[in-house]
Amino acid sequence: MSKPVVYVVIHSLWGHIKTVAESVVEGLEAQGVEAKLFRVQETLPEEVLGKMHAATFDAIPILAPQDLTKADGFIFGFGTRFGSAPAQVKAFWDATGGLWASQALAGKYGGVFTSTGTQHGGQEITISNFISHYVHHGVLFVPLGYGSPLISGVDEVFGGGPWGAGTLSDSNGSRQVSQREKDIAKYQGESFAKVLKKTFH
Ligand SMILES: Cc1cc2nc3c(=O)[nH]c(=O)nc-3n(C[C@H](O)[C@H](O)[C@H](O)COP(=O)(O)O)c2cc1C
Repeated sequence: MSKPVVYVVIHSLWGHIKTVAESVVEGLEAQGVEAKLFRVQETLPEEVLGKMHAATFDAIPILAPQDLTKADGFIFGFGTRFGSAPAQVKAFWDATGGLWASQALAGKYGGVFTSTGTQHGGQEITISNFISHYVHHGVLFVPLGYGSPLISGVDEVFGGGPWGAGTLSDSNGSRQVSQREKDIAKYQGESFAKVLKKTFH
C-alpha cells in the first residue's frame, strides 16, 4: 500500500512559519506519511521584500495551485495579515477556480497553522477566516483539538491552540519559535496523519 501524501504549503516572510512547518513535517513523517514542503508564489516585488527584511526561501519549491490534486491532504501555514491570510496565499487560492468548479479537492483533508506578531494578534480568527476556502472546495478541516496537554496552560506565552499550531514573532520579528510551539506543531502533523490514515486505502 502506498503512503498517504500530505503537502505542507507555506508563506513566510521572516522565517517563523518555515520553522513551524519543519516541525509539522516531522510529525507527519513520524506517522509514516509522505510529507512535502512547498511555498506559494511570492507576489511582492524584490524591492519591497528587501525593505521588509524578508528572508529567502528559494530552497522550497513553489506549488502550482492545480498540483493540490496530487496530495491526499494539505496543511497551509502563513503569518496573519490583519486577521486573515496574506495576499500571496489569497492569490494562490484565487487561482483555484477550475478546481472548485470540478470539486477536484472535495473529500481531501486540510489543516492550518499560523503566526502572529503579538499574543492577541489574531491566531484563531486568521485560521477561522481561512477555513472558508476549504468549505467551498469541500475540503475537510482537521483541527488540532485539545488532544495534547501542550495546548493547555497559562504558565508561559505561546502560540498555537485547538485551531492549529502557531507561533509569535514579536512586532520586529525578534522572537524565535519556542520548543513548546515546535512540539505543538509536531503534534499537529502527527494527529493530522492519524486522521488521514483512518480513511486511506
Ligand atoms: C501587513 C502585515 C499585517 C500584519 N498583521 C498582523 C496582525 O493583524 N496581528 C499580528 O499579531 N501580527 C500581524 N503581522 C505580523 C506577522 O503576522 C508576523 O510577523 C508573521 O506571522 C511572522 O511570520 P513569518 O516570520 O513566517 O513571516 C502583520 C504583518 C504584516 C506585514
